[in-house]
Amino acid sequence: MPSQAFVDALNEQIGSEFAASQQYVACAVHYDAETLPRLAAFFYAQAVEERNHAMMMVQYLLDADAQPVIPAIEAPKASFGDIVEPVELALDQEKRVTDQINRLAAIAREEGDYGSEQFLQWFIKEQVEEVSSMSDLLTIVRRASGDSLRAEEWLARESPGAGADDPTAPPAAGGQL
Ligand SMILES: [Fe+2]
Ligand SMILES: [Fe+2]
Repeated sequence: MPSQAFVDALNEQIGSEFAASQQYVACAVHYDAETLPRLAAFFYAQAVEERNHAMMMVQYLLDADAQPVIPAIEAPKASFGDIVEPVELALDQEKRVTDQINRLAAIAREEGDYGSEQFLQWFIKEQVEEVSSMSDLLTIVRRASGDSLRAEEWLARESPGAGADDPTAPPAAGGQL
């Protein structure tokens, strides 16, 4: 059974994952309103992934006989000056989440909670991928600045982040979307 300190920290992380999901919906809607469907689709998909991350953590707490807490979420940033800004914000967010996941893993390790440490391994790997794909996207939108169609074409060609279903992913409460 995870310690109360770990349960509290993981519950806080559930809030961060839902907040990331809301932020990505806001980014997607911004691009959709600008008729940039590929950028919109990328962020709509990321939003679902973040929601799944939250629900994996909920499932873990349920399985560990601990109490998951579904928190209120602050409104995300919803207005942006150009096509680069949402991606900059997203990359900062992914780096912050990486630090948070590492901190959770450190708590689990300090407490000799090997089950929780192992649960977090998947998220550690996932964060490496998400920081990498977001920083690729940032390079692309910066290079395309002024010509958003070039960014759209790159996304259409490369379809980043569209990985196949990952059989090693932890189960999500209610099932992954
Ligand atoms: Fe996440
Ligand atoms: Fe993420």
